[in-house]
Amino acid sequence: MIIDQFNRVHDYLRISLTDNCNFRCFYCMPEEEYEFTPASKLMQAHEIEAIAKTFVELGVKKIRLTGGEPLVRKDAAEIIMALSKLPVTLTMTTNGARLHEFIPALKQAGVTSLNVSLDTLQADKFQLITRRDQFKRVYDNIHLLLENDIRAKVNVVVMKDFNDHEINDFVAWTKNTPVHVRFIEFMPFQGNRWTSNKVLTWQQILQIVEAEYSFIRLKDELNDTAKKYLVPGHAGTFAVISTMSAPFCSTCNRMRLTADGKMKNCLFSKEETDLLTTLRNGEDIVPLIRQSIHAKAKELGGQFSADFEHIEASAIQNRSMITIGG
Ligand code: GTP
Ligand code: 5AD
Ligand code: SF4
Repeated sequence: MIIDQFNRVHDYLRISLTDNCNFRCFYCMPEEEYEFTPASKLMQAHEIEAIAKTFVELGVKKIRLTGGEPLVRKDAAEIIMALSKLPVTLTMTTNGARLHEFIPALKQAGVTSLNVSLDTLQADKFQLITRRDQFKRVYDNIHLLLENDIRAKVNVVVMKDFNDHEINDFVAWTKNTPVHVRFIEFMPFQGNRWTSNKVLTWQQILQIVEAEYSFIRLKDELNDTAKKYLVPGHAGTFAVISTMSAPFCSTCNRMRLTADGKMKNCLFSKEETDLLTTLRNGEDIVPLIRQSIHAKAKELGGQFSADFEHIEASAIQNRSMITIGG
């Protein structure tokens, strides 16, 4: 088992397959032209498999593939198949644009649930966010998942005066469609145009829903990032992820591996542990994994909750979201 100083068992690994992406969402990547990491610096498929296997031997039970966009990697299907042979729940967070090409691979790998990012239900706004004209493709692909009995959670990053007036449109979508919409508080990362007055807190989000719907809170699952709600009679649910105003560090079970093979013990940690170089040198990565988790801070997510109105985005020292994977 991998346990930190605060008795948190770490059994969930998020692996970024690439920092490349076929979208250009402004809240995720730096404003200036961003250079993707060259393939030679990324973990190769067999290296991902070897590192994942080591984590599984240490107790990891869930692996989430992230990006950039994980499905732009040419060998994504091969990696999915290899990891599906490990005794873990395998899942992914994706922008959904290429899902239709991967349904057979996902089915074969036994994937039963995916998280898809979709911040608007309006095609023109979708283009403003992503700089791509692919709303219909993503929307249709979410339905394609459902038709194939793959559960879909939809991540909506809520930004004030940008998509907050669509909150109840998303809730309306859950009436006849069994999707699980998750409204996420907007977080600051390097170069992502975050300002505190664009954040809508989870209570403000609930107030907006309350104006149109009555709903009940659903039971929390262990290590959940989301507080979940159901409008009685709706086929799907909605949830809030209170990353900024009410962090959930006390139940954190997550570890991260960036596409260039660096382990991060927390979404907000500056320190990184280079597992890939050690693996390439033929050395054991287990002591490094243990040291990284031993050094994990109690609640870095809490750095914002007391007073996020006064945070300057320029003071944030962390990779941009696209190079972490969320
Ligand atoms: P589930 O496994 O389905 O619960 O997904 P998840 O919420 O762990 O992952 P997902 O990739 O869908 O991320 C949803 C949102 O939660 C994103 O904004 C992530 O950045 C955020 N998030 C995920 N893990 C963490 C975490 O450990 N800490 C914080 N603060 N935010 C996180
Ligand atoms: N704040 C909150 N969530 C974010 N994501 C990307 N950037 C941000 C941000 N700045 C979300 C994406 C994706 C998940 C991995 O993280 O929407 O669904
Ligand atoms: Fe875990 Fe860090 Fe996120 Fe807190 S901020 S929940 S410790 S990853």
